[in-house]
Amino acid sequence: MKYKDNLRNITLLFVLGTLFLGCGSSTTVLDDKKTDKEKMLEVKVETYLASKTLPSLHILPTLEDEDGEKDDSKATYTLTANENVDVSVETPNGSWKTSMWRYNNNPLPLIIRTNRGDKMTLKFHNKLGSDSTVHWHGFKIPADMDGGPDIPVQANQSKTYSFTMNQPASSLWFHPHPDMQTGKQVYMGLAGVYIVEDDISRTLELNKELPSGDKDVVLLVQDRRFDDEKNGVRELLYKTNVMDADGMKGSTVLVNGSVMPKFDVETTQYRFRLYNVSNAKTYDFAFSDGRKFKIVGTDGGLLNEPVEVDHIMLGAAERVELIVDFSEEKLGDSVLLVSRPYQTDSMSMDMDENSEIDMEANGMGLTLMRFDIATEATDDVTLYRKLPANAEIATRLDPKTASNIGATRKFIMTMYMGGMGEGMNGASGMNNDMTFVINGKLFDPNRVDEFVTAGTTEIWEIENRSTMAHPFHAHAIQWQILDRNGVPASGTDLGWKDTFLVQEGETVRIIGKFEAVNIGDYMYHCHILEHEDAGMMGYFRVGDSGNVTIK
Ligand code: C2O
Ligand code: CU
Ligand code: CU
Repeated sequence: MKYKDNLRNITLLFVLGTLFLGCGSSTTVLDDKKTDKEKMLEVKVETYLASKTLPSLHILPTLEDEDGEKDDSKATYTLTANENVDVSVETPNGSWKTSMWRYNNNPLPLIIRTNRGDKMTLKFHNKLGSDSTVHWHGFKIPADMDGGPDIPVQANQSKTYSFTMNQPASSLWFHPHPDMQTGKQVYMGLAGVYIVEDDISRTLELNKELPSGDKDVVLLVQDRRFDDEKNGVRELLYKTNVMDADGMKGSTVLVNGSVMPKFDVETTQYRFRLYNVSNAKTYDFAFSDGRKFKIVGTDGGLLNEPVEVDHIMLGAAERVELIVDFSEEKLGDSVLLVSRPYQTDSMSMDMDENSEIDMEANGMGLTLMRFDIATEATDDVTLYRKLPANAEIATRLDPKTASNIGATRKFIMTMYMGGMGEGMNGASGMNNDMTFVINGKLFDPNRVDEFVTAGTTEIWEIENRSTMAHPFHAHAIQWQILDRNGVPASGTDLGWKDTFLVQEGETVRIIGKFEAVNIGDYMYHCHILEHEDAGMMGYFRVGDSGNVTIK
């Protein structure tokens, strides 16, 4: 602990130095680091390309519609949150047991797959020892169904969430959102995947313009910290270091619940729905051979035109759908999914190579999983080039239609240290904790921060004046990014987003429509869950008049 405290102080000194003296000479240090990180990643890549002991990728289980009729427009599901579910974590060096919190006692995270227009009925039973909720991340649904912290489901209580899923095909998700316990509950293992299909996605699949079926695979990426092994058991550790308040990160990265799994592929194109559902970590996803791949979807649905990239950075809660083409590969070849090393923001700068803390930090190179070219097959997919012109998902919102044009809503993210800042919640004395706030305010469950008129289109501007990146998220709406630091959006930034990274010093302008179904109180927050739990969050109220009383 002592060592880590020292390290923490060094970090703080560095941050202060950067704040008051500017970056100056630190550039060379960072460049040297980056080279080291790249070398470290290369060694790991070589090891895992050759490894004979990788566990097989778990395919996440899909819940069955309980009403027995898969094809009607009703869907019924039960989700029971359980503690102490026995999970076996498989790794290249054997496996260990961990008790996690899961839905329906399933050792793996679950997938719900529905059609646009489905009337959803989701019975939730909270078998945890504390309040929980199910929040539907990225959904346009009424506030009383949104599962925010304002409508908790107490221990041993139930709630039925019902809503009509009426939004474009997309890769959404769900997770608990109880007051100040969201980070803990997600970290312990409660999170699930929610896939929406619509006429456009189904037609593309039918026309072989998008891979589907067993060529459409969810990859859920989550980092965790585990205790030392005792009798084959390693328990999850949550918030055991002083730095964890800045965002809980771990040195063990799980893909669909396993460490460094392998997945046998055919010589065809694949569609991977890549979810970063880590509490805090940002990944710069790429392949070990530097190959190009195509992004066809972002948080809120399909991209009008696939975007070719050789890496994609995703902050916590962001998702993409990507297409990887294995059709030219030789049988027996392998390639790894990695997270490329990247230059971190000043806050999460690492101090010491090879240390556990370094491995947990943002910006370290990581190996995540391996694809093995195992079976020869004919690729019958010709990827779409452009969505049909009438596709709602393909429209760009026009800034001129924004109701708040000339009076952009601003959200400024700042930080202060310990008890120095204003608005500290009863904390006395100085401590080293960083406190992050939006517009100078900590979350107050009894305060609505923003009033929005239902049915209007608005431009929001998010400015990050703190020394680390934050993934900004607002409930009940999908956004389009207009520009970053004044530079018009391009590439994957043209996709619909419910969560997006705002880098240190960056200003992002977004536009979105507050659909009429979204009446009530919703949250906006940083999706580093420890920041959100600590109050980097606010309420916006969507009402007919912009000022209705819901609570
Ligand atoms: Cu994943 Cu308040 O959200
Ligand atoms: Cu959300
Ligand atoms: Cu944050």
